[in-house]
Amino acid sequence: MTRILILGANGQLARNTIPFLLEREDVALTLYLRRAKRLTNPDPARVSIIEGDVLDRAALQAALQGQDVVYANLAGDMAAQARSIIAAMKSVGVRRLIFISSMGIYGEVPGERYQSVLDPYRDSAALIEASDLDYTILRPGWFTRDKAVNYQLSHRDEAFRGHDVSLNSLSDLIVKLALIPNMEIRQSLGVSKAR
Ligand SMILES: NC(=O)c1ccc[n+]([C@@H]2O[C@H](COP(=O)([O-])OP(=O)(O)OC[C@H]3O[C@@H](n4cnc5c(N)ncnc54)[C@H](OP(=O)(O)O)[C@@H]3O)[C@@H](O)[C@H]2O)c1
Repeated sequence: MTRILILGANGQLARNTIPFLLEREDVALTLYLRRAKRLTNPDPARVSIIEGDVLDRAALQAALQGQDVVYANLAGDMAAQARSIIAAMKSVGVRRLIFISSMGIYGEVPGERYQSVLDPYRDSAALIEASDLDYTILRPGWFTRDKAVNYQLSHRDEAFRGHDVSLNSLSDLIVKLALIPNMEIRQSLGVSKAR
């Protein structure tokens, strides 16, 4: 059984990904979110729900007990969130982190210069890359509701190709990253629709 803690579990991409993860019988989920009554438990035998803020270090450490994988689907003060996640994971001894960021944080999107709007994404990615966690940072293009799973990856030293990607593609990739040992460890991946 792989135990996965989802931080920001009421986020759009997290809500899209939960059913993809639950298709796999060997997965148990802990959904961590503020104002937990917004979520209905989709499978009480395998899913638990914890109300908490990622910036609450003690609550986060408690939620991390016994987990194998952390999937962070956050927004807002992402540098402070990344600091809290890194410290809590280190103290509990959980190593695998999948962290949703954004395209554009390295100036890697041809013809686009995203400025300060991406600072929280840049700063949180830099903190994670400086940690010794087994991280994979995802840098998606704009989300679409296209049902198809159809994507390409670009590594940190490559230009980002395209500009959008379906939520289902990202969910498919997150399941693989969570369950395939050592897949794209310590990598920062651009994710866009394959041409
Ligand atoms: N939409 C796009 O096209 C696109 C493209 C590239 C990248 N992205 C980025 O990808 C990430 C995921 O996207 P999304 O659409 O799933 O985002 P979302 O719907 O805005 O979800 C982010 C979640 O983070 C939670 N959160 C924020 N601060 C928190 C804290 N301190 N403790 C616990 N939870 C906290 C929010 O919870 P509350 O509901 O409690 O506020 C929210 O549910 C975002 O950073 C987004 O900007 C989006």
